Amino acid sequence: MASCPQPSKETSIIGSDGNLYNYNRQSPLIFIGGVPRSGTTLMRAMLDAHPDVRCGEETRVVPRLLQMRSHWMKSQKESLRLQEAGLTGDVLDSAISSFILEVVAKHAEPAKRLCNKDPFTLKSGAYLKQLFPNGKFLFMIRDGRASVHSIITRKVTITGFDLKSYRQCLQKWNTAITAMNEQCKELGPDHCLPVYYEQLVLHPEKWLRKILKFLDLPWNDAVLHHEQQINKKGGVSLSKVERSSDQVIKPINLDALSKWVGHIPQDVLDDMADVAPMLAHFGYDPAGNPPNYGKPDQFVIDNTHDIQEHDDEWEEIADRVKKLSKKDTMPRAGNKDSINDFDQ
Ligand code: A3P
Repeated sequence: MASCPQPSKETSIIGSDGNLYNYNRQSPLIFIGGVPRSGTTLMRAMLDAHPDVRCGEETRVVPRLLQMRSHWMKSQKESLRLQEAGLTGDVLDSAISSFILEVVAKHAEPAKRLCNKDPFTLKSGAYLKQLFPNGKFLFMIRDGRASVHSIITRKVTITGFDLKSYRQCLQKWNTAITAMNEQCKELGPDHCLPVYYEQLVLHPEKWLRKILKFLDLPWNDAVLHHEQQINKKGGVSLSKVERSSDQVIKPINLDALSKWVGHIPQDVLDDMADVAPMLAHFGYDPAGNPPNYGKPDQFVIDNTHDIQEHDDEWEEIADRVKKLSKKDTMPRAGNKDSINDFDQ
């Protein structure tokens, strides 16, 4: 069979605004990645607040398909079997890109720019760029001590992470972020932008301007007030079952910056530079408890005070938003299956 380049398949959707939206492999998809608990939901909520962008909830199936493909490629025997069966790279690429495009386009309302936030997809960043050459990647980076504290205290289950051990989780954080950093470097600065969670919450406007420029999107003030768009049409659609929904309903605030301080065992703190060398790589002082993240903009100081003063009201809003979630999220199978929050 002669192989000729396949024309890129189109996925077309009519939006509730009556407009027709077309997507194909040349579409400039946005991918948000990072180790879970690094502000990935906040980032996607900010973009969802932009009138031209729709990210939506985690799809869960996109990273799983990418992981499966990566396993096939790593096994010489499996690769050979696939080749022999006619599943050449082109065939797989065309099938996998169609699957991803279909899922990303159709799991929520269409928009000018589609975006996907499944944190571990960044581990396949270079391959995703092969599928979607105009894809843009945002790499969320957060102090690993804060991410791990969040994973452990909120009981966020991730394949390979032992929630009983700060040391082991920090090592796993280090491995995962190393792999993502390699991918980001391979993608290059035109396609991958590292975004530091701490800097995003300390200086939202400065960073959001930089992010929108990188994504070739016009500035829009709505991104600074994502909380006003929660569960509104064309705004920020939230899932009842995602672990960040009750935090992301709030305006950008500083509450989560240093919550980890005082909770990591002393023996782990003593070895921090060796346990998680990527901390220093990203400029986080491994001996700082906490390090100095910088001075916040007045806007976020005001948000944080307001949240602290009206704590009860925010709890109520969180409950209401979760109950209001418009989708039927009842488990499709029985309740007994134990499913991780994230596979990697
Ligand atoms: P904590 O669990 O330490 O509170 P992710 O979405 O990648 O899992 O990241 C979750 C982290 O993002 C949470 O950290 C959460 O507090 C933080 N976050 C969510 N919404 C936020 C907001 N409005 N302002 C600041 N941080 C927010």
